[in-house]
Amino acid sequence: EGQGRLVAISNRVGPLNDEGKAGGLAVGLSDALKRRGGLWFGWSGETSEKGTFCELKTEVQDHVSMTTIDMSAEELEGFYFGYSNRSLWPLLHYRLDLAEFDRQSDRIYRSVNQRFASRVMPLLEEDDLVWVHDYHFFYLGSELRQCGFKGRIGYFLHIPFCPPEIFSALPASHDIVRALLAYDVIGFQTDTDRRNFVAFCIRELGGEKLSGQRVRVGDRTVVARAFPIGIDAQGYARFAVSPEAGEHEEMLHDLTRVRTSNPDADGDAWRKLIVGVDRMDYSKGLLERFRGFERLLEDYPENRGSAQFLQVAPLSRSELDAYVELRRELEEMAGHINGRFATLDWTPLQIMTRGFTRRALAGIYRAARVCLVTPLRDGMNLVAKEFVAAQDAEDPGVLVLSRFAGARAELEAGCIIVNPYNTDDVAGALQRALNMPLEERQRRWEIMREAVFSGTAAHWCDSFIDALARGADFDEPEA
Ligand code: G6P
Repeated sequence: EGQGRLVAISNRVGPLNDEGKAGGLAVGLSDALKRRGGLWFGWSGETSEKGTFCELKTEVQDHVSMTTIDMSAEELEGFYFGYSNRSLWPLLHYRLDLAEFDRQSDRIYRSVNQRFASRVMPLLEEDDLVWVHDYHFFYLGSELRQCGFKGRIGYFLHIPFCPPEIFSALPASHDIVRALLAYDVIGFQTDTDRRNFVAFCIRELGGEKLSGQRVRVGDRTVVARAFPIGIDAQGYARFAVSPEAGEHEEMLHDLTRVRTSNPDADGDAWRKLIVGVDRMDYSKGLLERFRGFERLLEDYPENRGSAQFLQVAPLSRSELDAYVELRRELEEMAGHINGRFATLDWTPLQIMTRGFTRRALAGIYRAARVCLVTPLRDGMNLVAKEFVAAQDAEDPGVLVLSRFAGARAELEAGCIIVNPYNTDDVAGALQRALNMPLEERQRRWEIMREAVFSGTAAHWCDSFIDALARGADFDEPEA
């Protein structure tokens, strides 16, 4: 293609294949890198005394060389737990109430960005396309420039970018956005995120909007554009018919069977399965979702004994207070709902924190009548897209999706949109989804299928790289 090698930099590296990891970043990026080949650089997932000064660890797989370094315990605390996940994550998800700021973690975050730049620099070739990912590495591009790298550097934010009124509460907000301007192309999940970023540049830094989705601040001109991330839809659809998926689908089929002891009855019946799959995170709206399910059982009592909710919620960052608290609240809420409605032969709600492989999840999605995705704020949400890709055309399930998920922009014509803060709305949407006639389910699924199979991970990667290769220099003809 005449373009240089692709070098991706992100905090978590891999897995390249189906080892199950819920984050959207790994899903989107591993498919892209496998197709193009290249280098993936990031954190090893380990701590050691030498930390970011340790020797490089390299593993080559499917034409991708994955090179990682450790962090020291202090780096991990300040960079990952502290600044990334106690300051930036809540802030960018519009949760100023949960954001904590302190100068020690700010300092360590910057120094880890600097160190990652200086460690990757010797591995770079002049015409590499460097692509930095996510909120862990806002300063990395500007640090690479300090190291003397002259090639193209792109940046993609996998999570939302909050409005300037919220972002400006971050003590380093100006530093961060100025550092971002060192990149050639800055990508966002949705147009809302892009607009928030551009508004910050204009209002806080005196920048201006130019044609061709460019923004100028002082003497820097960058491209700021939305590139909605997708999945490998065909690959995922194949997962859904794999033996491992089949086993999981079968297990759930058995679990939802209502055995009749009455010899005059027509035979077994099945309960309708509602599933949710999310990292256990306060941005995912899990408590609100549980309340919505409880309201369904209250207001539409015909679902008692005939609907069943399975929530898969693997843990991450579970050392942080906000996550400890969330887990406690969720378990309490689940216990409350089960205690209130369970019967001897029916448990309304099941929550599990264990993870599943992507193949197993595809089988779980296929067994579900409804997938409930109700984040309070989410960059994209690939569970919504994977659920769609996993369905069977004969009997597709219904997607109930939050209006605050990035995926809404592409899926709203086929799913049922809800406001996750409105318990009645969630309950009503569930009731509608559980009773939707087959024909309508098929029609809606077809619309979403089209979107998921055209806006793939490959498409995302190609359009970003294309924009990066062109850079901000090209002049788009004025409309
Ligand atoms: C989100 C972020 C990723 C992150 C993932 C899992 O998807 O965008 O950058 O890797 O969550 O979170 P963790 O903190 O476990 O890496």
